[in-house]
Amino acid sequence: MAAATTILLLSGLGCRQDMHDEPKFFPQRGTNFYADGRSVRPQVDHTVARSQLHADNYFYTGYINGKEGDALPFPATMKVLERGEERYNIYCTPCHSRVGNGDGMIVQRGYAQAANFQTNRLRTATLGHFFDVMTNGYGSMPDYAAQITPEDRWAIAAYMRALQLSQNAQRSDVPSGVEVKPLKTIAESEGMPASFAAPWGQADSIIIPAAAIPLAQPGSTAEPPPAPAKTAPTQSSAAALMPATKTYSVAQVQAGQQIYAKNCAVCHTAQLTGRPPTFPSLVNIVTRIGEAHVRHNIHDGAPPMPAFPNLSAAELDDLVAYLSSPSRAGHPASPSK
Ligand code: HEC
Ligand code: HEC
Repeated sequence: MAAATTILLLSGLGCRQDMHDEPKFFPQRGTNFYADGRSVRPQVDHTVARSQLHADNYFYTGYINGKEGDALPFPATMKVLERGEERYNIYCTPCHSRVGNGDGMIVQRGYAQAANFQTNRLRTATLGHFFDVMTNGYGSMPDYAAQITPEDRWAIAAYMRALQLSQNAQRSDVPSGVEVKPLKTIAESEGMPASFAAPWGQADSIIIPAAAIPLAQPGSTAEPPPAPAKTAPTQSSAAALMPATKTYSVAQVQAGQQIYAKNCAVCHTAQLTGRPPTFPSLVNIVTRIGEAHVRHNIHDGAPPMPAFPNLSAAELDDLVAYLSSPSRAGHPASPSK
């Protein structure tokens, strides 16, 4: 019985060994079976690609006859723009910011400066270029081909063009039924410090559909939507917006802004973004390096930065108030939708 089992086992092994030794091709290894020495066979002439060859199609490349095209490969509907906005806000804002000025949060934290879409070159760049940048990356920007479908990349490109137009809109572009309000006014009605709108420089107004603005008409029967705090920003409402440690008045923040504009903006820029690598960004600087360190830098200088021993203690306080104010984070007012 034992002998029979052994024979069975051995014959089993023998059979297995045969299959090991059988002639076959190993992936990525040569063979002497074919004359060209390749185990992987070339495709038969006139093979037709099914669903994977995107090499020659505008929809997949953004190129027409070797040049970046400037059209959407499908109609630009409101739905496409909304989809583009949503995808843009998810994938691009960390670096390019919601308004596309290249000053997103991770850029503020030290990532390579992202492109500002409001430069003349990018304002006149083609949609195909935007598509190509997302598809293949550009300089230090990684590609988004794996994360974003071609269709969504086009939707984002369309939204970017809308974003560019919105940032350069003229009053004559505003359709009837839509009201233009200065950002300052909106900041005030939302209880923000007046300095909130300052970093946005000439883009000092945003366009809101009239329907989105709560207007409580006397005698109006319509239920007014819950209104934002109507009071002018007071010391305490401003204080609520300040980081925990200290409270500063709106007046101090404003005075600090003036001092900053006069003494610091030339190197650190009016938006506080600096010009890395030489001039560091001062966005959120107080939270990042601590108030004492900031005061020390200003008072004693930090070569190559000059010292400012002539600023009075009060002026230094104002400057710190300004640098601490949360509107320095570089977010535009997000009108309630
Ligand atoms: C991780 C940060 C980061 C993200 C996220 C990012 N970008 Fe960029 N982008 C950059 C940087 C950095 C540059 C500048 C690259 C350079 O000039 O070397 C840039 C440049 C660009 C340019 C300008 C190319 C040119 O011709 O100068 C476009 C257009 C662009 N990005 C579009 C997008 C879009 C659309 C998204 C979202 C899908 C996106 N980026 C997401 C970092 C980013
Ligand atoms: C002439 C250009 C110049 C001016 C004007 C200037 N700075 Fe600077 N600042 C610099 C440079 C350069 C550095 C980086 C110093 C270093 O390498 O340590 C710096 C660094 C700083 C830092 C430290 C940043 C960090 O990340 O550690 C602070 C804070 C600062 N500056 C605040 C100010 C303030 C506030 C003013 C206006 C009162 C001002 N600076 C004016 C050039 C300038």
